[in-house]
Amino acid sequence: TATPKTARINDQLITLRPKETVLQAALRSGIDFPNSCRVGGCATCKCRLVEGEVKELTETGYLLSAQELAQGYILACQSVPKTHVRIDVELAKHAARRTVAGRVVARHAVTHDITRLAVQLDEPLDYRAGQFTELAFEQLPGVVRSYSFATPADGSGVVGFYIRKVPGGQLSSFVHDHDVRGLSVRLRGPAGDFWLRDGDAPLVLIAGGSGLPPILAMLQQAASVGDTRPVTLLFGAREERDLYALDQIEALQATWRGSFRFVPVLSEASSNASWTGKRGRVVDELPALLPPNAHAYLCGPPAMVDAAVTVLMANGISQEHVHFDRFTTRA
Ligand code: FES
Repeated sequence: TATPKTARINDQLITLRPKETVLQAALRSGIDFPNSCRVGGCATCKCRLVEGEVKELTETGYLLSAQELAQGYILACQSVPKTHVRIDVELAKHAARRTVAGRVVARHAVTHDITRLAVQLDEPLDYRAGQFTELAFEQLPGVVRSYSFATPADGSGVVGFYIRKVPGGQLSSFVHDHDVRGLSVRLRGPAGDFWLRDGDAPLVLIAGGSGLPPILAMLQQAASVGDTRPVTLLFGAREERDLYALDQIEALQATWRGSFRFVPVLSEASSNASWTGKRGRVVDELPALLPPNAHAYLCGPPAMVDAAVTVLMANGISQEHVHFDRFTTRA
């Protein structure tokens, strides 16, 4: 048998199994390699290939700038080494990820399929509004799911999550069907590179379905420090009964120091005659509302995020100003 291929990740030498990606091999070897979506959609696993060759599983060029591509940047989750490789990666940005235990202290039905939980952690966890964490219930061994923090970190150790019931979803059904108050949970986080960057450019934020909470957390954080950038917030949902957190949006609108437009768009409003707002796909509203040189933040299902990225690029927004969290729902 051939000797196994190896990879050097920064200073650490690891062995590679056949067909393994750089990310899989690194994580298996205990390296806290930055990652988030693991499907080539977020660029969190971006790293530099310094030596060797990889086979790329998907077209990753649209997530990396021409300059990055020229410098040998790759996405670790989409790269299978063909030879020995040497990889340089910035590990520091994930150093804050840790495991904290806690207890569910509140549970509210927000819509027919979304439940909001509040969790009191044993010790506060530092994170940036927009990031997510892994969540596990002691009562559901082996079931770990990722959820965005629904509020900015405030040092109190109380964190919130909006959990949408997924058909057949073990954790989401458990939370939806049972009074989980008092139960023990474990968080491992924070993760993801979705947070609001500093700047002066107008902001366009697009949320699809259960992608709204991290975007609201970002805006609440920004409001608390007196951000004045003009905001356009688009929220795509199916029907009127799928809209939620409207009170929080109103409160934001009232306190935001710059202009604040909120545009809800319903994709299946036809059965509901009372709806007088926008109908259709949220991305179709984008061109008419897009301020020049906007910086965009997108959170929602992959199809929505990808469509929005395409529209933004077609309208001259440069890739470095488009940030997104493309969540995949795992049952
Ligand atoms: Fe590789 Fe998201 S983890 S692109």
